[in-house]
Amino acid sequence: MWKGRFQEEQSDLLKAYGESVSIDWRLYRHDIRGSIAHARALLRAGVLTGEEFTAIEAGLLEIGAEIDAGTFEWSRDLEDVHMNIESALTRRIGAPGAKLHTARSRNDQVALDFRLYLRDEALAIWGGIRALQRALVGLAARHPGAILPGYTHLQRAQPVLFGHHLLAYVEMLERDAGRVADARERMDAMPLGSGAIAGSTIILDRAAVAEELGFSRVTTNSMDAVADRDFACELLAALAMLGMHISRLSEDLILWASAEFGFIELSDRHTTGSSLMPQKKNPDIAELARGRTGRLYGNLMSLLTTMKGLPLTYNRDMQEDKQVVFDSVDNIRATLAIFAEMLDAAALREDRALAAAGDPLLLATDLADRLVEGGVPFREAHEIVGRLVALAQSRNVPLNSLPAEDFLAASPVLDPETIRKNFQLKTALEARRSIGAPSPANVAREISRWESALK
Ligand code: ARG
Repeated sequence: MWKGRFQEEQSDLLKAYGESVSIDWRLYRHDIRGSIAHARALLRAGVLTGEEFTAIEAGLLEIGAEIDAGTFEWSRDLEDVHMNIESALTRRIGAPGAKLHTARSRNDQVALDFRLYLRDEALAIWGGIRALQRALVGLAARHPGAILPGYTHLQRAQPVLFGHHLLAYVEMLERDAGRVADARERMDAMPLGSGAIAGSTIILDRAAVAEELGFSRVTTNSMDAVADRDFACELLAALAMLGMHISRLSEDLILWASAEFGFIELSDRHTTGSSLMPQKKNPDIAELARGRTGRLYGNLMSLLTTMKGLPLTYNRDMQEDKQVVFDSVDNIRATLAIFAEMLDAAALREDRALAAAGDPLLLATDLADRLVEGGVPFREAHEIVGRLVALAQSRNVPLNSLPAEDFLAASPVLDPETIRKNFQLKTALEARRSIGAPSPANVAREISRWESALK
């Protein structure tokens, strides 16, 4: 492709060291789409005749079909996906093929292909997030009114509805979907026409190319267009955050699936056994997702670090952008799909969850609220209830089983009827009816809100 300047054949070691086609071949569909749009711009500018354009288009489509079918022969000697396709085209159709690269560089070509590819992937990931949200809402809807303990510091804190816990993740995923959509919006600018760095003296209709490729706008600075990869970093950042959320969900599921908690039943299809211990049923999917979050973070750090020291504009370092992005995209798409399937087949063990939530200590805060209702300042109420908790624990009895005299001695507000009512789980949850709190009515409303939002 650049034989004019060189007298010696390239070192085999350099060929192996520099090739990227083993990784970037998967941009071929976008490369071909971009090349056809570019050829049409060359036709409009009078660089290509109608016949030449038709030959280029047919040749590129034929190459695409062969790659689809797995019969195309890739050559590492041709470095990357762009040169493989262009050289195959010229081999097939001759002279018109050699005109295709007019007013184009691999620098704007790869900027285009990568954006086209990531626009598609961002859309697919967005869809995957929605599917996972639907699975979470579905699981919540299959257990209406189910109660489990909510935790802080991994210590039982207060009772919540199972649906409330799951919908917390639905909210997080909603923001993740928003970040992916934002990243997609910002990458939606067409870079072709920027050339290697400074555009070209051959003027092409960039707006028409953008329109053909479905971009909402064209890039407005040729140096920026070939130099930056912030669009890829931004998507990796969004995926890292999404991974963090899925990893926390994983951690909850792993705990819930343990014998100690025993809250969730994962299907046989979504668990694995042990080669040694016959009794084991392991939540591997959640563990793998939690583990792979490390790679999502690593890929983001990798690309940020690759980019940070580069003078404008294109530097070959930037070829390292694809491997990490492909890895994160593949990883997250697979994770989203398998999580949705796993949750669709999962069930809450309502009895176990309820038994754990039935611990009267979880309503100690509510008891302090009763004192507040009787006019006791909250800090004082907190201390009174703290002493009652210590008393119950010293006698090894549940908090609500202390004799009436003990409650009355602590405060006259704590009469037997108040105590009886305070320790009813159902009443306690119904009382949590401020916006965003887990009363059964609120949670039911939120479940239907999400059901229609996610349709
Ligand atoms: N394979 C290269 C990459 O992915 C394509 C751009 C090459 N440009 C160049 N000037 N060598 O970055």
